[in-house]
Amino acid sequence: MKFFIDSADTTEIRKLAETGLVDGATTNPSLIMQAGGDFFTTVQEICAMIDGPVSAEVTATDYKAMVNEGRKLAGLADNVAVKVPLTEDGIRACKALSDDGMMVNVTLCFSAAQAILAAKAGAAFVSPFVGRLDDIGHNGMDLIAEISEIYDNYDYPTEVLVASVRHVQHVVEAARIGAGVVTVPPKILWQMFKHPLTDKGLDAFLVDWKKTGQSIL
Ligand code: E4P
Repeated sequence: MKFFIDSADTTEIRKLAETGLVDGATTNPSLIMQAGGDFFTTVQEICAMIDGPVSAEVTATDYKAMVNEGRKLAGLADNVAVKVPLTEDGIRACKALSDDGMMVNVTLCFSAAQAILAAKAGAAFVSPFVGRLDDIGHNGMDLIAEISEIYDNYDYPTEVLVASVRHVQHVVEAARIGAGVVTVPPKILWQMFKHPLTDKGLDAFLVDWKKTGQSIL
């Protein structure tokens, strides 16, 4: 399972990249707004920190402008994945950009039907938003299972990028389904390291080790 960082906070991304566990990053206009920096500089900085795909989202809503914005974003670095929304124009733009050899992440996916369109349009990634589906009383993870089954049926190369992750259990559930990629807010990735019994156990081992009076180095 690949881990992407769902953030535009370059300080946080740098810290997480140092763990060696980060395979990519996703940004969106809201995350860019929260981070507060210049969009293009931020994307280039993230691309330099992480070898894998870094999603940068278009903000135009009509096909032609989306394609132009997508080309500009893809020119920022070799590892940019152009993010387009799952609208009619977005799917057309996905097809055009993918046909031109660009990596495209189709975002704001909320149904299996939409995910089929993204795969047909040659998307490298489709981003179903599990947390936002949970918010309205659906089970977001059911959608991940449904899309994964459909993509397997047809050997679509599009990767399911589990997005809108709200807690550690989302990551675990996505892994059980076999989702290829999960994009995780920094706070949740840090939480994955933690278990109170690990801390308690380590404290006890260190106390006992000290009593031996020995050292390894
Ligand atoms: C990532 O690609 C998505 O934009 C992001 O995961 C959305 O998360 P949210 O629903 O918490 O805003």
